[in-house]
Amino acid sequence: MRATQTGDLWWKTAVVYCLDVQTFYDSNGDGIGDFAGLSERLDHLVELGVTVVWLMPFYPTADVDDGYDITDFYTVDPRLGTLGDFVEFMRSARSRGLRVIADLVVNHTSAKHPWFQSSRSSVDSQYRDWYVWRDEPGPEKPGDVVFPDRETSIWTKDRKAGQYYLHRFYRSQPDLNVANPAVRDEIARIIGFWMELGLSGFRVDAVPFLLETSGIEGGAGDLPQPHEYLRDLRAFLGRRSGDAILLGEVNLPFEQARTFFGDEDGDELTMLFDFPTMQAMFLGLAREDAGPIRSALLARPETPGDSQWAVFVRNHDELTLDKLSGAERQEVFTAFGPDEGMQVYGRGLRRRLPTMVGGDGRRVRLAYSLMMSLPGTPTLFYGEEIGMGENLDLPGRMAVRTPMQWQAGEMGGFSTAPNAGALCRPFPAKPYSPDEVNVVAQRHDPGTRCSRSCGNGFGVTANVPSWAGARCPCWTTTFRQCWPTAVTGAAERCCSATTSVPPPRRCGCRSPNSLPAPVASICSTDQPS
Ligand code: NOJ
Ligand code: CA
Repeated sequence: MRATQTGDLWWKTAVVYCLDVQTFYDSNGDGIGDFAGLSERLDHLVELGVTVVWLMPFYPTADVDDGYDITDFYTVDPRLGTLGDFVEFMRSARSRGLRVIADLVVNHTSAKHPWFQSSRSSVDSQYRDWYVWRDEPGPEKPGDVVFPDRETSIWTKDRKAGQYYLHRFYRSQPDLNVANPAVRDEIARIIGFWMELGLSGFRVDAVPFLLETSGIEGGAGDLPQPHEYLRDLRAFLGRRSGDAILLGEVNLPFEQARTFFGDEDGDELTMLFDFPTMQAMFLGLAREDAGPIRSALLARPETPGDSQWAVFVRNHDELTLDKLSGAERQEVFTAFGPDEGMQVYGRGLRRRLPTMVGGDGRRVRLAYSLMMSLPGTPTLFYGEEIGMGENLDLPGRMAVRTPMQWQAGEMGGFSTAPNAGALCRPFPAKPYSPDEVNVVAQRHDPGTRCSRSCGNGFGVTANVPSWAGARCPCWTTTFRQCWPTAVTGAAERCCSATTSVPPPRRCGCRSPNSLPAPVASICSTDQPS
């Protein structure tokens, strides 16, 4: 990419940082993070080299699915502040050059949303066709239930409505009927509303389910071809803001996922999370073999010119291993989460990386160095930059959604609440408690090398795992230091080849979507064409 294009294609050179306002920083001592607190802590992100903040849902919610069950799409959860606080936050972010994207969760609403309450109340409700109703349960295949811990079907009978409704997730999250033009108009209004408040786009929740039409019968209108709808959404977004993006959650095999970018003109989702490579990375780490990563990268389809993959080590959900075979998944479970309590839904881990590798900073640095150097846009989950662990006492996926650890002490610098019992969630226990793992300690760690000299992140610390700042020339050093300790054979032989900066130019790759030289060198003697 030419330097002059980096502004136009800002998402291609971005470093995305996902956070939940609720767990980031509490400004008023009620134990719950809030927008005023987040605004105070933006400099932390700037110093890390983050360029885009991804806000997890911050809307009013019934809170059965940690905010992914929305009761009002047009305002802020009062526990987190007001719309005014949101606008102040947006202003503060923009003044620091940070872009903001937000979760767009429109596959479903909360069952408590007034639309659903009206829908279920009468067949004559204007909202009846906003959801998917049937007299008998609709079609269902094995694996359709996303949360098998609490659900056994994607159809539940509503007593009041006297019919079954579709819910891809929990029964308290009824699916919206996107075959209904009124629903599609409302989704556009939601997008338009938040765009007016300054967003640069959205992380779109559960895209395949949003587009899915099976089960929708006799709705108020016919859903156009699903991909046509995605094109419409993207075009609408583009009319509101020309360089806004849609970053989609599409956890499908590569070939199917590729279709969500759109045809060659890439007019659907701007970016997709690269779930297959993430899973291959964990298989590679478990085997101490770069082979799975190499295979994933070689299988990764080319994207249209302006499109981009988003790479990540873990996100806010279970670390899903659903694209691995049963035997491969078992290898990763055995290496990184052998106890059943560390696993969830039979397909993923509810741990953060540092605990998975027994606190081995070299392996943590390896994983983040690799992620930062893979072709694609690095996407971090809050707390990864300081090596936070998880709290397995919390249920399910909440284990990795503990409060941000700013400094030592019972409250971790997160809140001034009277005692830890008042916090929205408890911290992890030792040796991952705030006393051992926190932002202040890391800033003062003499082992920190890369951050100041590159002005781009805390960099690599001696005892606390941390990621090398993206685009920082030091990353290759890190990569070379760490790689041989975790990967045998080919890596040892090839690690001297990992010095190229920037990698794509050295290996003659055409775009950041191509395989970078270090990975190619390590994995084989082949160079990508
Ligand atoms: C995907 C989100 O990442 C997850 O956290 C949520 O529970 C489901 N979608 C339902 O919204
Ligand atoms: Ca608060």
